[in-house]
Amino acid sequence: MIVLKTTGEINLMRQACKIAAGALIAAGEAVKPGVSTFEINRVCEHFIRLHNAVPTFLGYQGYPAASCISINDEVIHGIPSKKRIVHEGDIVSIDVGATFNGYVGDNAATFAAGAISPEAQRLCDVTRESLYKGIEAAQVGGRIGDIGHAVQAYCEEAGFSVVREYTGHGVGHVMHEDPSVPNYGTPGRGVRLQPGMTIAIEPMINMGKADIRRLPDGWTVKTKDGKYSAHFEHTVAITSNGPVILTRV
Ligand code: MF3
Ligand code: CO
Repeated sequence: MIVLKTTGEINLMRQACKIAAGALIAAGEAVKPGVSTFEINRVCEHFIRLHNAVPTFLGYQGYPAASCISINDEVIHGIPSKKRIVHEGDIVSIDVGATFNGYVGDNAATFAAGAISPEAQRLCDVTRESLYKGIEAAQVGGRIGDIGHAVQAYCEEAGFSVVREYTGHGVGHVMHEDPSVPNYGTPGRGVRLQPGMTIAIEPMINMGKADIRRLPDGWTVKTKDGKYSAHFEHTVAITSNGPVILTRV
């Protein structure tokens, strides 16, 4: 069931989203060679709690941390660990959610640790830009397939591939609401986009093939071919004035 939000509800939700956005920025500033993913997660959790919010991910289906931190060929859901050290040249995807006043904000970005390869930089740039292409397609009167198509067309044109097994999602009172928001699709197909829908658009884009596998830890998702993957996400409200990015500080 899709839960539409009033303008007032979207404004309340914006507070959770701003906290999630602030946590992501703080975490991104902590990314540098030598830091552990445990420490980056600590920065996220501290920021969220400092703003009287709750880390949405912590305890979600048993997930043990406030954020997911996925390095290089890890696509999503990397579990922070004191043993996992960031090295120069790594790309570090951080995904973090905050719950405040009964609403959830969810966002993610991929950060560079020191100097990265030109190809890794291009992967990050294309993935970030594909998120904005998807957001631009999130217009009242359009369809979910318009969003996925915009993301997919842009990334595949650049020679990259779209992960299929995980998608964006409705977000609001809880982290995962309807509808599912795939990063691939056909224009004019799927759920109709209506004012008051709040969705997380989150392209997960691979440098090589789209195939992924999950590690025995039950969470970490990696590319099968070992090539790098990037991930960007915003929580977006669909309004009659166009899409509004809520996860902005
Ligand atoms: N942000 C992720 C999503 O959009 C959720 C992370 S999974 C969790 O689905 F278990 F860590 F919460
Ligand atoms: Co999400």
